[in-house]
This record gives sequence, C-alpha cells and structure tokens, in this order.
Amino acid sequence: MRRKDGKPKVKAKRNLPHYSSGFRESDEAGSYRSAPATESVAEVVSMFAGCGGLDLGFHGGFRVFGRNFERLPFKIVSAYDNSEDCAETYRLNLGQEFSCLDLTQTSPDELPSADVLIGGFPCQDFSSSGPKVGLEGKRGRLYEVMRDYMAHHQPKIVVGENVGHLLRLSGGRNLSRILQDFEDAGYFFDVWNLYGPDFGLPQSRRRLFLVGVRNDLPGFPTQPDVTHSNRHVGIDVALEDLEDVIDESIPNQSQYFLSSRANAGGGQGDHANRRGEVAYCIRANARGRIQFHYLFERRLTVRECARLQSFPDSFVFPFTTQRNLSLIGNAVPPLMGHVVANSIADYLDRIRDANPDVGARPDRCAQLAFPQMGAV
Ligand SMILES: C[S@@+](CC[C@H](N)C(=O)[O-])C[C@H]1O[C@@H](n2cnc3c(N)ncnc32)[C@H](O)[C@@H]1O
Repeated sequence: MRRKDGKPKVKAKRNLPHYSSGFRESDEAGSYRSAPATESVAEVVSMFAGCGGLDLGFHGGFRVFGRNFERLPFKIVSAYDNSEDCAETYRLNLGQEFSCLDLTQTSPDELPSADVLIGGFPCQDFSSSGPKVGLEGKRGRLYEVMRDYMAHHQPKIVVGENVGHLLRLSGGRNLSRILQDFEDAGYFFDVWNLYGPDFGLPQSRRRLFLVGVRNDLPGFPTQPDVTHSNRHVGIDVALEDLEDVIDESIPNQSQYFLSSRANAGGGQGDHANRRGEVAYCIRANARGRIQFHYLFERRLTVRECARLQSFPDSFVFPFTTQRNLSLIGNAVPPLMGHVVANSIADYLDRIRDANPDVGARPDRCAQLAFPQMGAV
C-alpha cells in the first residue's frame, strides 16, 4: 500500500475476521459491565436498535479517543431490529436482550413497558443521499411503531433519532407531522439538532434527536452544551495510532476495502480526507461515496470507519466489509448517544428528587424556524 509520505510500502492483509466475543467480554468493558453508580436505574426499550450505537451511548461505560464515557443509569431491557446482521453484532458486543423481529408486525402489547423508549427510526426516505420521498416512502412511516408504543405504554421519556435533512425535507412538513403524531400520544417534544464535531466526534455528522417528555411530567431535559466548538478533532488525530497496524491486533483493521490503490475522485461523491479536518460522513452505503485515507492511497478500513463513528476498538463487526460498513454507517455514534443520554439521566434525577429546577419547556417553534444546517 503506497504512502503519501514516501515511507516504504506495506502489504495489506484482507482476512475475513472471526470473533467469538466482542466489546462486552473485553477488558475495556469493565465499567460497561459494572452496575451504574446509582440505585435509580431507568429501564429502556430500544427500537430499530441496529448494531447498538445508540444503545451503547445510553449504557455508557466505554472508552474512545482517550476519553471515558461513564456508565449511565440506564438498563436496556429489550432491543429490537429485523436484521439478522444487527442481531449477531448486537449480541456479540452488547447482550442477549436483542430480539430479531419486524416491528410493523408486532403489537405494542407484546413488548415490555419501560421508563424510556429510544429509536433511530429508518432514515433512508428522509436522507439527502436517498430518494427524499419522506413520509410517502415505504420506510417513511416506520416511526409510527414508536408512536403506537408510546400510546400503549406511556414511557416517561422518548428519544427518536434521524438525519438532519428531515428538518428541511418538504419545508419541514415531514418533521412537523412526525412530532404531531408523537405528541398526540400524550407528550411534549423538542428537537435537538446536534453536530457531532461540536462534541468531539472526528466526523461530519449532523443528527436530529426528537426528545419527548410525557405530558404529566414537569420541565424538560437540558439540551447538551457543545464541548468542542472551536476545537474539532481531526481525522488524523483520531486514526494516527492505526497507521502502522495492518493485522487484527486491533479488530477489523486488516479489513481493507477491495482496492488498496483506488484513486480519490474517480467516482461521483468520492472524498479524500485531509489531515487536521474532521472526516466526511460515514455512510451506510459505501458504494455510493468512497472515503479515502488522509495518508495512504487506499480507502478507510472497517475499524477506521468504526473509530470515526466513536465505537470503542473492542466493539467488533463480524461480517464482510460491505455488511460491516452498512451496520457502522447506519449507527448513531455512541458518543452522540451518550451526550443525549446524559441529559436525560440528569433530568430523570431531578424529577425523581422533586427538584424544583427541572428546566423549562423550550419554545420549540423558535428552534425549528432556525435550521442553520451545514453537513447532513
Ligand atoms: C438507522 S438504523 C438504526 C441504527 C441504530 N439506532 C444504531 O445506533 O446502531 C435503522 C434500523 O431499522 C431497522 N429496521 C428497518 N425496518 C424495520 C422493521 N420493520 N422492524 C424492525 N427493524 C427495522 C434496520 O434494520 C436498521 O437497523
């Protein structure tokens, strides 16, 4: 593999890895496995759980980019997705709470109650890189399974997640409709429009978190404060220690893309990453947009993509490159999930203690009328 800095070439290995255990069995996961430092644990049901990015964020107890993301007071009691690849990856890394089922064919009364409902409902029909058919698309109405769960079980808090482009699609009408449907189930919702690099994610990724509080509860969780506003973490800082690793001493790092000498710019939407800048958005469909290393004349490895999504290195992906990339690109970065979950945990603490400082309900309309968006 040719290097841009003139050092000798190295030969890439392209083994299909075999993993019998993942993150939850690793040394790194010590604090993941330990009980949260409080007795007040909120139970969570996770819909559209994917490989578990958002779930790991809610759980906490992981380490990435030299930062510890503390264990949070949440317990995932059940996670659902209809993909077998998600099932295998989730169980390998997070636990057996996962059930592989089609949520559109499952009645809410077959699912357990919980304090918190989370779900990154499918985004293809809302994404700027998809058909943009919105609620008219065949996956555009999948959010309704979350609404049905809310209407039946009335969890205290709901967190939906989707792409930033949902804010702009059809002049915001799709988002308004989703929020209205959610609120009709007995909730007040706000939208947190978060840009990953502002929280230390070394990747350009903007996500909307639709945060809902049941109508009988006071106040509202506080939107997370930006931590890295003028000091975004560059791709080279995030991946530097992987530069000389070409084996499985770090899982999935030997899994290079097919072409080690692919030329950036050859296909529509190809992106050459640059030192000192955040990486381009990691997409689920890597065929559409190819990302190149900032130093090598090759595409990013599966591990490098997972790292840019803030998965800890012991979180393994057991399939071929494209299948792994699809799981990684679809995921909510655990780091962003953790930032949001932290605010929810703080709010639940305050209402449990009947703390009068429970925050005010925000003026949602003001926020939605101000969609200052760059990357989606
Ligand atoms: C955007 S991904 C969710 C990613 C996940 N939140 C994470 O952080 O890793 C959407 C997920 O919805 C799942 N899905 C799509 N249709 C479904 C259905 N009818 N029933 C259950 N899951 C479905 C897909 O398999 C996909 O994993």
